Amino acid sequence: MNLISACIFDLDGVIVDTAHYHFLAWKRLAHELGYDLTPTDNERLKGVSRMQSLEIVLELGGVTASEHDKELMANKKNTWFNDYIERMMPEEIFPGVKQLIRELKSKGIKVGLASSSKNAKTVIQTLRIQHEFDAIVDGTMIKYSKPHPEIFLLTAQKLHVKPEECLVFEDAEAGVEAALAAGMKCVGVGDAQRLYAAHEVVEKTADFKITELAKL
Ligand code: G6P
Ligand code: MG
Repeated sequence: MNLISACIFDLDGVIVDTAHYHFLAWKRLAHELGYDLTPTDNERLKGVSRMQSLEIVLELGGVTASEHDKELMANKKNTWFNDYIERMMPEEIFPGVKQLIRELKSKGIKVGLASSSKNAKTVIQTLRIQHEFDAIVDGTMIKYSKPHPEIFLLTAQKLHVKPEECLVFEDAEAGVEAALAAGMKCVGVGDAQRLYAAHEVVEKTADFKITELAKL
């Protein structure tokens, strides 16, 4: 029996490559502070809030800063990130994702968005997909960011489904951890070795076959 009645999508790195824009903006901040960030470092920044990401970036460079300076740094990074997303085109949505969402909905599966980003609404408006979701939860609506399960539990609540009926699509290790902690099924998007804890891993979001829903 197919128990999945809702699919919950992360945004950055699952629907569009904004994860790369976050990385470029953090890299720019690190360069200003005199060091570099590697793609491996970036994996730790995925899925976690802006301030938590900043703490990790500073720790990687061995930098200590006052709360006031941290605030300034986070704002600077966010301004650079917004410069990237302002220039983003609707065509930057990953190929096949809109079709996957529509196919799920045509099968009666509810579709939610759960992003720790406070910029999530701007991104989905730019991509013109805000109307594709039955519920949207972003970084402005939660207290704890991934790996805490709050964001996924709140999305399930808004979708009127039980956590165990949900399947989450996630590219972040923190996101996979959060989905599992919420008692949900999870499809990892990206590197199978890194996302080994997920129930299934696909290279790209649209590689997921809807027929898999019954097997999860
Ligand atoms: C997403 C991204 C993270 C980012 C976080 C906060 O979860 O995966 O890399 O740090 O959102 O984004 P924000 O746009 O609020 O700075
Ligand atoms: Mg992500």
